[in-house]
Amino acid sequence: MRAHVPVLWREAIEILNVQPDGYYIDVTLGAGGHAEEILRRLEKGKLLGIECDPAALAFARERLKNFGEKLITMLGNFAQISDLHAASGFPPVDGVLADLGMSTMQLEDASRGFSFNTPGPLDMKMGPSSGPNAAELVNEMSEQELADVIFKLGEERHSRRVARAIVKGRPYRLATELAQVVTRAIPSRAALHQIHPATRTFQALRMAVNRELECLESLLAQVLGVLKPGGRVVILSFHSLEDRLVKWTFRTWQREGRAKILTRRVVRPSEEETAANPRSRSGKLRAAESCAG
Ligand SMILES: C[S@@+](CC[C@H](N)C(=O)[O-])C[C@H]1O[C@@H](n2cnc3c(N)ncnc32)[C@H](O)[C@@H]1O
Repeated sequence: MRAHVPVLWREAIEILNVQPDGYYIDVTLGAGGHAEEILRRLEKGKLLGIECDPAALAFARERLKNFGEKLITMLGNFAQISDLHAASGFPPVDGVLADLGMSTMQLEDASRGFSFNTPGPLDMKMGPSSGPNAAELVNEMSEQELADVIFKLGEERHSRRVARAIVKGRPYRLATELAQVVTRAIPSRAALHQIHPATRTFQALRMAVNRELECLESLLAQVLGVLKPGGRVVILSFHSLEDRLVKWTFRTWQREGRAKILTRRVVRPSEEETAANPRSRSGKLRAAESCAG
């Protein structure tokens, strides 16, 4: 399995402005790439790493074990950041980093069902949660509900055709079974584009299974409460709806005098980075600084 390559890490670390004695939270620890760069810059400071996927958490802990007590890890969902922060015993923190979405490790683990190329069970859960998995969604949602999810979260123009074909081809057990049906439903001229024709549908299902927009909303509603005045929040997103949510939330905070936007323009990966790591292509970074009071 390939290691996950952290996206926009130099830019993220620079804007986080890591202080040797500071306290930080990485709410999407993943493979620990961004976390490692934060930890390297800490002396007396500490990092709390939150991750909802037990396999990723175990990987990151092993990778980062040499940092000893500078790193505290918790299995949990960043939608509960206030409670997790309180449980850590950390003071209000100097910075919070979120690198949204899934990691390369998750994508390439066939048993998770995130990839349309591998015949794993259609699961797509990033962590233990009580909601339905991807197989339950595609086998049980109405055609209209499926079309709405695929249109909204996948931004798939052909969402109605895809939803119709999915309903007709039920039931599904494997990711590849679903990918074949979706691929056949997309008009061949649309399939000439660079990305695999099932990409958007798989993205939509992953986001629905993990309630990714709701979790981000919840994180944004709480994050200023865990930052100290002058503390920074840095968010890296890969989906236009997520980026819009971050952008508008930051603007509201600024208007209300609760935070100052640090990225007047969104930060995007360089050509060099996208050439070396195509997954970084859609990455967008925004940051804000909490104001006193
Ligand atoms: C893009 S990866 C992060 C990669 C990491 N920055 C690195 O450099 O290795 C996103 C990670 O966040 C986790 N994740 C996604 N949503 C989460 C949530 N709501 N709460 C906690 N972890 C989440 C995923 O399981 C995944 O491991």
